[in-house]
Amino acid sequence: MECGIFHTPYMRPGRTDKETFEYSMMLAKAADSFGYRDFMVGEHGMQAWENIPNPELLIVAAAQVTERMRFAPMAHIVPLHNPSSLAVQVGYTSQLLQDRYFLGVGAGSWENEAVLRGQPGDLSEAHPRLLEGLEVMDKVWRRQPFTHEGQFYKAAWLEAGIEAGSVDHHDAFDLKDGEEYHALADHSPYGGADGLEIAITGLSAGSPSHVLAGQRGWTPVSFYGGSTLLRSQWDVYSAAVEARGDVPDGSRFKVARDVFVAKTDEEAKEQAKNGALGHAWSKYLMPVYKKYRILQGFIDDADVKVDINDVDLDYLADHVWLCGSPETVMAKIERTFEQTGFRYGQIAVNTHDALDDPAPWVESLRLFATEVVANIEVAGSKSPVHEFA
Ligand SMILES: Cc1cc2nc3c(=O)[nH]c(=O)nc-3n(C[C@H](O)[C@H](O)[C@H](O)COP(=O)(O)O)c2cc1C
Repeated sequence: MECGIFHTPYMRPGRTDKETFEYSMMLAKAADSFGYRDFMVGEHGMQAWENIPNPELLIVAAAQVTERMRFAPMAHIVPLHNPSSLAVQVGYTSQLLQDRYFLGVGAGSWENEAVLRGQPGDLSEAHPRLLEGLEVMDKVWRRQPFTHEGQFYKAAWLEAGIEAGSVDHHDAFDLKDGEEYHALADHSPYGGADGLEIAITGLSAGSPSHVLAGQRGWTPVSFYGGSTLLRSQWDVYSAAVEARGDVPDGSRFKVARDVFVAKTDEEAKEQAKNGALGHAWSKYLMPVYKKYRILQGFIDDADVKVDINDVDLDYLADHVWLCGSPETVMAKIERTFEQTGFRYGQIAVNTHDALDDPAPWVESLRLFATEVVANIEVAGSKSPVHEFA
């Protein structure tokens, strides 16, 4: 099995951008040294608790101080961007990082982000804008002349670059032999439009984003919210893969989760509850996970059922988080494989604000990679952790 990092990150409101950036660099270096395969950075312009607005800045900096780990924005919220600008930015980053970069895209789930860009707060434009935006991005990456006039976006790639003197109010000028006035920069992705790995995030049951992943051969990325939810995403993904005559492969799924590992169950629970994880859940994640309906699924799967309003930190540590000794966490993962009905290839650890006391958190990341994931077999996944184990 592979492990990855899903680095929103969940930072306490009041952390400065510089603090978050430097903390992120430290985590990236640590994760790289432990054999994490992917470091995936969220994109949020409004949330104090999830405070990285431009993943590429961090990605490029972190790539310079790490050796093997791959990076991806997870996700670029395509509907919030001009798609042509985003295509150029993604292509440029891809060329800088080469095979250590892949692209994550998403429809967006925050109403205030949509409203800030003049879009409906009910997110009714999110999925259609995602589809149309991706269409424009693909055209930009192919570097062929096109004209696009869609529902939301207009874009064009001129036949012959910019015609000298063609705009009335510009002075015409003569091109001399050998001048390269028409030359266009190549900011298409490394390996071309078809060489870029694209991943897409899905949150809902039977997610339309996972259908798209299956139809287009993209990598599906989920938040774990219990076996029924993940199973529904696997089912629609598989059906779409089969519809184009291919065989679905569970090892392609990346699943984000809260993880805390220590030498013993008692130590892990104590540190998780009283550290960054417990704080983020108490102050922020409980309502978020209720809103996006991914907390009830854990309760449905657990041996001990409670009312969703009675979930406390003890319950989270026992039944929701991958919390415990390496052996306990391995058993919890195997149980989710059984309940969901397939073995997914990567667990991406959600990162939390352990800025004030990073050592236990970093040790948990180390144990998860080297003593949990390194010992779990998933056919088809190629874990770099094995090189360390
Ligand atoms: C692993 C993962 C990461 C995500 N990262 C972000 C993010 O960085 N910014 C954001 O606004 N939404 C993020 N989302 C939410 C997506 O933008 C989007 O709302 C969701 O994937 C759409 O799912 P659906 O097609 O099932 O409705 C993320 C979702 C998942 C599962």
